[in-house]
Amino acid sequence: LDLVDTNAAGHIAIGGVDALKLTQQYGTPLIAYDTGAIRRQIRSFQRVFEDLNIAHRVVYASKAFSSLAMYQLAAESNIGCDVVSGGELYAALKGGMRPEMIEFHGNNKLPHELEYAVDAQIGCIVVDNFQELHTLQAILADRQQTMRVMLRVAPGILAETHEYISTGQEKSKFGFDIRSGQAARALQEMLADDHLDVIGVHCHIGSQIFDVQGFIGAAKKMALLLRDWNQEFGFDAQVLNLGGGFGIKYTGEDDPLPAEEFVKTIIEVVEYKVNKYHLQMPAIWVEPGRALVGDAATTLYTIGSSKHVAGVCDYISVDGGMGDNIRPALYHAKYEALLADRPHAENTQVATVVGKYCESGDILVEDCPLPPTHPGDVLAVPATGAYGYTMASNYNRNPRPAVVFCENGESRLVIRRETYADMLRCEVGIAQ
Ligand code: LLP
Repeated sequence: LDLVDTNAAGHIAIGGVDALKLTQQYGTPLIAYDTGAIRRQIRSFQRVFEDLNIAHRVVYASKAFSSLAMYQLAAESNIGCDVVSGGELYAALKGGMRPEMIEFHGNNKLPHELEYAVDAQIGCIVVDNFQELHTLQAILADRQQTMRVMLRVAPGILAETHEYISTGQEKSKFGFDIRSGQAARALQEMLADDHLDVIGVHCHIGSQIFDVQGFIGAAKKMALLLRDWNQEFGFDAQVLNLGGGFGIKYTGEDDPLPAEEFVKTIIEVVEYKVNKYHLQMPAIWVEPGRALVGDAATTLYTIGSSKHVAGVCDYISVDGGMGDNIRPALYHAKYEALLADRPHAENTQVATVVGKYCESGDILVEDCPLPPTHPGDVLAVPATGAYGYTMASNYNRNPRPAVVFCENGESRLVIRRETYADMLRCEVGIAQ
């Protein structure tokens, strides 16, 4: 219950708008964001750096929720964003992100994506491997252009999280390996190229991290790397980018450290080490995705059929499921579910909330305590703002849901619900 707000009528409210009113106006499934919550999260990241007077950039990892509206909000808030494909870059530019505030990530950036990034003169490309480095060098030489780059390393830190979203370990597919000398060779090659302006180094240890130890380890390892590279190559990093991964609360049982605390600790460790090694203090960049948008959204569904298997379990079906939220099926991610018009009602059953997709794994919430439910009731699943819509699919030809932004009691549609025709728009068929 501490995951949702309620109004005077006792209904769940999002950004001051009654959830039932939202479903009446826009239909279900509906993803409703409280944009005030996003703005507050952005501010609290910025404030930590400002209070400690640390040069910084908050870079929104837009894979968490890539949409024109969100890029517009990021641009308004003066934060950067990271993109991981030509498609995200296109959307970010259309959403009004200034090119210099965009950084480009990925372990297999395609040649045409690199050309697009260079032509758009984005802020920085985070170079991941030698193949990419050489392709980028050729593009820049050809155009006689320079580009700011960062070098991504795999810091050899294992974050405590699901293995699919852990990325810092040595055997990660991302970034140059440090121990074998790969990273140092890459730096030398980059420093020797006049078309490249090497502004700093990057690492990202994983996602949905609760324990600050992983970040402390990464910060120490990166500071040591900067000391070594300063001694060996006279390299002064202007930027130390420590990635994202700050965990959020999905259920009442989750108890993550507030993101500001993670950031404060990172800053302290970096400052301490930098002073100890007599280095210049780099600007610190962080790349939160989930922590900016994750707990700001609630998905609203309509309850349909149910099934009672005596002595075994009860199923309650909703009108969405794995097509709008693949996370439970993919990562065994846990969520809570509440009735939108009576979140405080006494729970009398434990049911499994399932979607409408033709997969037994299409489970949204297993063993969910709920009051008695009826077809037509609106079920709310909080904390669906990150990696929900962006990982959505049209499986079973179910249209992607609509998305609304709510703030100060007002709602506005930012992504309309897909239509059946939308789902056929790329199909050419054989009878021409
Ligand atoms: N920076 C880099 C280089 C990343 O690869 C990621 C996430 C982030 C920042 C942002 O991480 P965040 O702050 O959102 O944890 N689909 C998965 C998460 C995949 C994360 C991929 N990289 C999920 O639903 O849990």
